[in-house]
Amino acid sequence: MNGPFQPRKGDALFFEEDRLFILDQRALPLEESYIEARTPHEVVRAISTLAVRGAMAIGIAAGYGVLLGAIEASRSKNEDILEGAQKAAEILKASRPTARNLFWAVERMEKRINECNGGSVREILDCLKQCADAIAADTIEQNMKLVEVGVGILPDECKALTHCNSGALASLRYGTALSILIEAHRRGKAVHVFVDETRPLLQGARLSAWELARSGVAHTVICDNAAAFFMERGEINVVITGADRIAANGDTANKIGTYGLAILARFHEIPFYIAAPSSTIDLSCPGGNDIPIEERSPEEVKKFQSIQVTPENTQARNPAFDVTASHLISGIITEKGIVFPPYKENLRQMFQVR
Ligand code: MRU
Repeated sequence: MNGPFQPRKGDALFFEEDRLFILDQRALPLEESYIEARTPHEVVRAISTLAVRGAMAIGIAAGYGVLLGAIEASRSKNEDILEGAQKAAEILKASRPTARNLFWAVERMEKRINECNGGSVREILDCLKQCADAIAADTIEQNMKLVEVGVGILPDECKALTHCNSGALASLRYGTALSILIEAHRRGKAVHVFVDETRPLLQGARLSAWELARSGVAHTVICDNAAAFFMERGEINVVITGADRIAANGDTANKIGTYGLAILARFHEIPFYIAAPSSTIDLSCPGGNDIPIEERSPEEVKKFQSIQVTPENTQARNPAFDVTASHLISGIITEKGIVFPPYKENLRQMFQVR
């Protein structure tokens, strides 16, 4: 398969010669280097250490991770190829719990594993490769449409605040919230983006600022605790972020700190939008309390870019995501259009598979 929506050399993720090439986001913005994953375990490591991160990018990586499980098994005399793929699916599903897209992608691969039963080794590998490519292609296509929808809702003079990184790095070629802002700039809107630094791992300061700079979009990085200051002064007129999982009632998990921003936006009467494709929406999850929230190592909080900033024995907590209650969200931008409240009814109407 070789269409316009296929990952190719130069993308942040691409598959070549039985290897998944991953732009190492831990090294950005200082260094642009790729790591190579040849086994599902290496993909799991890349996902859990955030070499590849962002809900949709980890879904795409996991799709190829399942394929690598089948390839690995095909080289071993003792292992059944479909079993190898299934084992890979299991460890990939355990790599990070919050982003729905990871499960959406692995479940698609699992369905294909079942459909492949009875095929030759070559047929099975081709079939799984096609499925992993289709996951990538669908993601790119959905986000292209979502960006189109999102640009329309931004004010002509757009003073936006965003949190974490929801650009191409969090997906492939087209991201969500950040890509909407970049496209609005490309189309001539006056866009200035305030970028939360996004402690503890600085996805805003390191990654969103890198993407905005490359696209020539005016931007200002601020400390996470400075948002209220700029809102109160009227320097921000829209808040827009991505999402890791959207429950059936519209409650939305995204990078820790998003919930606080939504409360601040409501207080200052600033619209607060979420942008996410349908692969992030989980209608089987009734509400925010049912979304599994990843808690990462306290060491990430106790250190700033590897430098210890707390006393050695200080305790820290490190939830990676929080949940924004749906009543704080002005609208959810998707590839099918903008979903407005009441979310439970409107999400079901737009996304329920009949
Ligand atoms: O821990 P990360 O960097 O994977 O968290 C990513 C986010 O919270 C993004 O905002 C989210 O995935 C939406 S963009 C696809």
